[in-house]
Amino acid sequence: MRAHALQTFYDKRLAWTGDAMNNALLTKLGIAKPIIQAPMAGVSTPAMAAAVSNAGALGSLGVGATNAEGARRMIRETRALTSRPFNINLFCHAPATSDPVREARWLQWLTPLFAQFGAAPPASLKEIYRSFVEDRAMLDMLLQERPAVVSFHFGLPGADALAALRQAGIVLLASATHPHEAVQLVEAGVDGIVAQGIEGGGHRGTFDPDAVDDGLGSFALTRLLVRATNIPVIAAGGIMDGAGIAAALALGAQAAQLGTAFVACPESSIDAGYRRAMVEQPVGRTTFTAAISGRKARGLRNRFTALDDDPQRPPAPDYPIAYDAGKALHAAAKTQGEFGYGAQWAGQGAPLARSLPAGQLVEVLSRELDEAIRALTWPYLPAPIPHPFPAGGQAWP
Ligand SMILES: Cc1cc2nc3c(=O)[nH]c(=O)nc-3n(C[C@H](O)[C@H](O)[C@H](O)COP(=O)(O)O)c2cc1C
Repeated sequence: MRAHALQTFYDKRLAWTGDAMNNALLTKLGIAKPIIQAPMAGVSTPAMAAAVSNAGALGSLGVGATNAEGARRMIRETRALTSRPFNINLFCHAPATSDPVREARWLQWLTPLFAQFGAAPPASLKEIYRSFVEDRAMLDMLLQERPAVVSFHFGLPGADALAALRQAGIVLLASATHPHEAVQLVEAGVDGIVAQGIEGGGHRGTFDPDAVDDGLGSFALTRLLVRATNIPVIAAGGIMDGAGIAAALALGAQAAQLGTAFVACPESSIDAGYRRAMVEQPVGRTTFTAAISGRKARGLRNRFTALDDDPQRPPAPDYPIAYDAGKALHAAAKTQGEFGYGAQWAGQGAPLARSLPAGQLVEVLSRELDEAIRALTWPYLPAPIPHPFPAGGQAWP
């Protein structure tokens, strides 16, 4: 009788494990592992995305800060390195509104900082990249290149763009930081929702940067979205290892999206100061700031984020106009060996980041996930769980 009960439990467990590794989202994305390397504009590279995809997870490229031709080059470079699916990520923020008075005050406030490095701020600021919502050339390029997956941050493009991408056979994902944003994604018919918790690194994907941010953590947000929708949910924010991915799957997510975990990989395009800060930060203290780009983003605490404490700080220009000044200050500081004014985006799990090659990191994450599942089931399943993958599926180590 006891043996029978154990066998039933074992069978259920196997079914659960099988489902976790072979769910609707993974089938749709054409990947074997429930791991997505987060798109990271300015940090992820074709080499990183291809290595991740080649290892059976989903690699991503953030092209939000690039124009259509730059993005096309990145897609082609990635294609030369992998024949597997990968994801192209776009920013869908409301186009910036220029306010010359505000921008002039901002530059005036930054002038003494530039002066420290023997430099002057730019005479004026510009919108350094366009939102996808008004970038027809980018849409045309995507329809020509047809990447397997396209994802959106800060909201969605118009219904026509969504319909055209869907018509081209592209799987569509989008970030949400709150259930009320997820409702809009469900109505728009996306294929999966990235639940971005407050722990996460990089820009908050909130649709309206001026709205009150409830700051939902990954656990609560993932669970809220899993309970509220029947669209696959991808958990993101603070997930750094296999144990974190197992937790996300246990919460009902069909995959986990990891950004900070991949920042220190040798394939990332971060500079030496950012790399040092990632690898050497003993406590990895992070904070949100809007001073660097004009929108709230989480990064390692540094000289730039400390400027938020200045009571004289005027309101920042609109996103991404403020980024023009932020990047210029970082460039000026770097010429004098000061890296503390960089946008060193990272999430709360930063001290757990490993500087392994991206493909190897995916292998390690997979192994850890397997071990975490086994550890949780250990009292009932002393033997390793065999993995009943369908023929032709990727090997699960
Ligand atoms: C360096 C960095 C850059 C990021 N850039 C983007 C981006 O271009 N597009 C996007 O959708 N998300 C971006 N994100 C956010 C991630 O998609 C994801 O929500 C976040 O990394 C999850 O939290 P984690 O960093 O704790 O893993 C970025 C994150 C980091 C760390």
